[in-house]
Amino acid sequence: MTQPSWFPDEAHRAGEEHLDAAYVEHYDAKARFDPESDLTVLRELGFGPKSTLVDIGAGTGTLSLAAAATCHRVIAIDVSAAMLQAAHQKAEALGLTNIEFVRAGFLTYAHQGDLVDFVYTRNALHHLPDFWKSVALGRLAMILKPGGVLRLSDIVFSCDLADVEAVIEAWLAAAPDRPEEGWTKAELEAHVREEHSTFSWLLEPMLERTGFEIISASHSESKVFAAYNCRST
Ligand SMILES: C[S@@+](CC[C@H](N)C(=O)[O-])C[C@H]1O[C@@H](n2cnc3c(N)ncnc32)[C@H](O)[C@@H]1O
Repeated sequence: MTQPSWFPDEAHRAGEEHLDAAYVEHYDAKARFDPESDLTVLRELGFGPKSTLVDIGAGTGTLSLAAAATCHRVIAIDVSAAMLQAAHQKAEALGLTNIEFVRAGFLTYAHQGDLVDFVYTRNALHHLPDFWKSVALGRLAMILKPGGVLRLSDIVFSCDLADVEAVIEAWLAAAPDRPEEGWTKAELEAHVREEHSTFSWLLEPMLERTGFEIISASHSESKVFAAYNCRST
């Protein structure tokens, strides 16, 4: 579909490293993401063998694969071909046949078929500035069944303006030295400078304005991460 010329190119905002196969090869070791606690939350919200789930900004598919092992259908979406290829290879190795891989983004994914029960997105929405986050969330609301659940977790700053410097500096101070062990100080600095993590007090009304009711929210003690469970209204 042709987009208007004022429409952004999502791949240009996706983080160069996410498009780089050499970086993606080591992504899982760096991210150390265990999907179990997220799956537990999803199960508490009704996720089960009959459920369908869209994972957008799916990356190497850690959550998608774990979800597909126990549900009906998963659609793993990402703008990065390298990420999707890694996810696809892992699914093949596990013999999972109920995952579809779609190269698209928050602003371009065109859903086909029945509306889904769950949308999941982790550490991906911050690639869009707030105007486009709102557009993206509105689009996610449209692919969920009425009453369907969105779980959104990301780097979100849940502090007042006066505390921004202290919160960011404390976060940077706790970063590992080696990139193999996680995101280094330099990588986190680049995140704050160049990406679009926002304040909880902007994101929460944004969720409510774009077709969701926030059922529960958790904000990390560091005031740097937040997770939201929402129902489409
Ligand atoms: C930090 S990774 C997180 C991957 C995965 N969700 C996880 O938690 O391990 C961010 C992912 O978002 C993807 N991404 C960036 N911008 C996107 C967009 N506009 N639409 C969809 N995916 C996007 C990147 O390609 C990358 O795979």
